[in-house]
Amino acid sequence: MSDTEKRAPFIVFEGIDGSGKTTQKNLLCRRLSAMGIPVYPTREPTDEKIGRFIRGILSGDTAVDNRVTAALFVADRLDHLFSKEHGMLCELQSGVPVVCDRYYFSSYAYHSVDMPMEWVMQANSIAAQTLRADCTVFIDLPPEKAMERIRKNRENTELFETLARLSAVRENYFRAFELTKDTENIVIIDGDRPIEEIEKDVWQAVKGFFQ
Ligand code: ADP
Ligand code: TYD
Repeated sequence: MSDTEKRAPFIVFEGIDGSGKTTQKNLLCRRLSAMGIPVYPTREPTDEKIGRFIRGILSGDTAVDNRVTAALFVADRLDHLFSKEHGMLCELQSGVPVVCDRYYFSSYAYHSVDMPMEWVMQANSIAAQTLRADCTVFIDLPPEKAMERIRKNRENTELFETLARLSAVRENYFRAFELTKDTENIVIIDGDRPIEEIEKDVWQAVKGFFQ
């Protein structure tokens, strides 16, 4: 769907684990609801079958090759787009704005730690051609600070959450933003500040899509 005139706004939050994406996504959804604007909050990996299977892999339940995990994320994303029951396209086409925690930039950044980014981009090309975010909000936090937050708040750290990996992932995000700068609208927000200040900047970045 390339014609943005015909659908509701689509906003994506991106960032390394612990950067504050979920917090900001929830605040944005709450703000929109308070304004009387309907909103469909969602996330990837999804809470549907493929997404639940992926979460099992990430927490170490099932051992699979990294390329298999990357391909499962592609499948989960296509289901998230095209499903008639829980698909984002149905919501957007019926006029409901969608706010999503992670989308294909997460794949670009996380999976290209282990394989070429070109492969990951190619594997995600149907999603990228079908639906681009009106705004991808990248909450930027130094990996050391993200690790502190993760350690404080979680009993289990998932596979990706080691300092070296998070640093590589952050660098990959910036590489992907550079590679896609002609077609994507990316807003980078400093996540190393109080939640309310970040929220104000997020709203400045996206409010134009809701007027
Ligand atoms: P993510 O979804 O990116 O992993 P979360 O929103 O779950 O991040 O935040 C990770 C942890 O950090 C949570 O415990 C959250 O309350 C806390 N947190 C979020 N934003 C901030 C912030 N700006 N300053 C300090 N702590 C924060
Ligand atoms: P998530 O539950 O959003 O983690 P967090 O709340 O800590 O940010 O995502 C789970 C993990 O999945 C996260 O480490 C990033 C990873 N991931 C990928 O590796 N590829 C992808 O395409 C996506 C969407 C997520």
